[in-house]
Amino acid sequence: MQHYILGIESSCDDTSAAIIRDDVILSNITANQDVHRNFGGVVPELASRAHQQNIVPVIETAIQKANIGKNQLSAIAFTQGPGLLGSLLVGTSFAKALSLGLNIPLIVVDHLQAHILSHFIRNEDRTNPVPAFPFLCLTVSGGHTQFVWIRDYFDMEIIGQTIDDAAGEAFDKSAKIMGLPYPGGPMIDKLAQLGDPKRFTFSKPNIPGLNFSFSGLKTSFLYFLRDELKKDPDFIEKHKNDLCASIQATIVEMLMSKLALAMEQKREAETRGWADVAIAGGVSANSGLRKALEQARDQRGWNIFIPPLQYSTDNAAMIAVAGYFKFLKGDFGSQGVTAYARAQG
Ligand code: KG4
Ligand code: ZN
Repeated sequence: MQHYILGIESSCDDTSAAIIRDDVILSNITANQDVHRNFGGVVPELASRAHQQNIVPVIETAIQKANIGKNQLSAIAFTQGPGLLGSLLVGTSFAKALSLGLNIPLIVVDHLQAHILSHFIRNEDRTNPVPAFPFLCLTVSGGHTQFVWIRDYFDMEIIGQTIDDAAGEAFDKSAKIMGLPYPGGPMIDKLAQLGDPKRFTFSKPNIPGLNFSFSGLKTSFLYFLRDELKKDPDFIEKHKNDLCASIQATIVEMLMSKLALAMEQKREAETRGWADVAIAGGVSANSGLRKALEQARDQRGWNIFIPPLQYSTDNAAMIAVAGYFKFLKGDFGSQGVTAYARAQG
């Protein structure tokens, strides 16, 4: 028997709904919020208000596009956390009400687990390859930067993470310093393609093991620009592409050198021949990181998994697929579940 699951994502500033038939994606609709553009970052109150406006049309469109009726749904999965509490509450309340109204189970999904499970979303013909357990995932988003060792769909262990800023924050804060609009990551990526990644060098921190630190990079970038602007007030304008290319290359190198270390450690610990590695989260959309991973595949023989762009940044398809795997286990949430702002465990 086939199961249709509705996934709802509202943890930050994207309102998204998706329908999945088992693990096959049927629709994935996202409304972005332009209201934050003038503020240089997400304003929580405006985000939750925009979610309230968007959630009904987004869900209706997802159901329509999937070409099913509401009463065919088997369950509703939603993001419980982490994220902005006011934003999460909109998805949580809506999911609870709809599950009551339709009398179908409710499934709570952790946003970070869902980013990883986005690798199991299947195309209509189910031909896209999926990682085999166990595998290593580098989750890089606006709020998190983690190495996760995945033994099974919900058996995940964090084996390294940032001790301060996330990789996405490093992109966004560097962009802000250059006066680029929020969110800065995609804009840096775009301009970087026109610049020289070796034009400027920034010092990288020396953090032991599989942990990261990105806050020093932001500070050295800030001081570097402050000094250059004293000499030439148009410095940023004149060198924007090279600055973007150089800061992106630095962040990607920091991620890739730790990833090589994590692969080395895991390859020693695991059976010989193991080499499955995935990236997930908003920063996995970065073209420099994607290219670097492809190079590692060619040069080091890693078996790489890069999510399609629509599943890199926040989306409900990943919530729906995570919901499907919980549905198979009969792992349902009660009407008493509440959202959480901070990462669990
Ligand atoms: O996973 P995500 O959509 O939301 C969170 O859960 O945080 O990640 C958002 C982050 C932002 O910091 C954004 O600037 C970054 O992902 N991002 C990128 C790119 N696309 C999104 N960073 C670099 N290059 C990109 N192409
Ligand atoms: Zn995310």
